[in-house]
Amino acid sequence: PRKVIYDTDPGVDDAMALYYALAHAGVDVVGITTTFGNVTVEQAATNALYLTAIAGFEIPVTKGVARPWVKASEPPPDYIHGADGLGNLPVREVTRNTLDPRSSAQFIVDMARAHPGEITLVAVGPLGNLATALKLAPELPTLVREVILMGGTVVEPGNVSPVAEANIWNDPHAADLVFTADWKLTMVGLDVTHQVILPVTLFGKIAQHQQHVATDTLLHAVKFYANFYSDLYPHVAEIHGCFGHDVLAFIYLTNPELFQLESGRMRVAVDGLAQGQTMLRRKRIDYPQAGWEAEESMTHACMEVDAVGASQVLEAT
Ligand code: BDR
Ligand code: CA
Repeated sequence: PRKVIYDTDPGVDDAMALYYALAHAGVDVVGITTTFGNVTVEQAATNALYLTAIAGFEIPVTKGVARPWVKASEPPPDYIHGADGLGNLPVREVTRNTLDPRSSAQFIVDMARAHPGEITLVAVGPLGNLATALKLAPELPTLVREVILMGGTVVEPGNVSPVAEANIWNDPHAADLVFTADWKLTMVGLDVTHQVILPVTLFGKIAQHQQHVATDTLLHAVKFYANFYSDLYPHVAEIHGCFGHDVLAFIYLTNPELFQLESGRMRVAVDGLAQGQTMLRRKRIDYPQAGWEAEESMTHACMEVDAVGASQVLEAT
């Protein structure tokens, strides 16, 4: 199985993604690094510990960055993932998993050094932990096998502004650093995540064969999340569903054949009206463009996905 460090701000779709990864024989989650985003970093760490504990897993969990690098921090919204990030769970069991004392960035660096060429970073929140790890260890790109991130968008409209996706919007400076580092990076953005609408009933079906991944908790959280999306989009309301966002990052890892990609050099607008926009200078463009050097880039952006295939993979795992 592929060794993965899961960088996350759980978050309902983050939880779906975690349970998909834990249930998949091809994925070995060797650590969970948390960040602010959908919730505060404290709540994110609490949720990661809780989600793993109730599923019977003991995986190192670390606490990471609490705010964006440069821009002012804003309190997380409570109406998308709930005030607790998991759809306002009515009760929580008492659990015993404890936090690894290292920072998320230090953990990433330590693991990459201990397993050179083996670690895949799957990042599904704002990118401050990865950016901090790059500052701590500039050689990190030579140690990491691959980066797969949920964030950004190329042609699909943004979900925070007309051009910005939430994870990139939340820390555009960190994101720009991550996109321009010299590692193999695949972006799983709104271009594909908005194509995959997962009905709540799918998670009911998963619950029937995935006893070990705490499906009651997940089901509660997914219902809350689906209510949010159903209020916004009539076509999502029709099936009482939600977008797959973070789980698509793992489905890309396990089933890349379901995706079509475009490669190029990616930069992020760090301020102004377009703050948080991800801009792809496509590889096939070979004439000079203002502000862009012509060098090869390592960003591969997912543009199309076999949505039916992705849902089937999720249901079967
Ligand atoms: C992303 O933002 C968060 O709300 C989700 O967890 C996902 O990572 C989607 O834009
Ligand atoms: Ca997330």
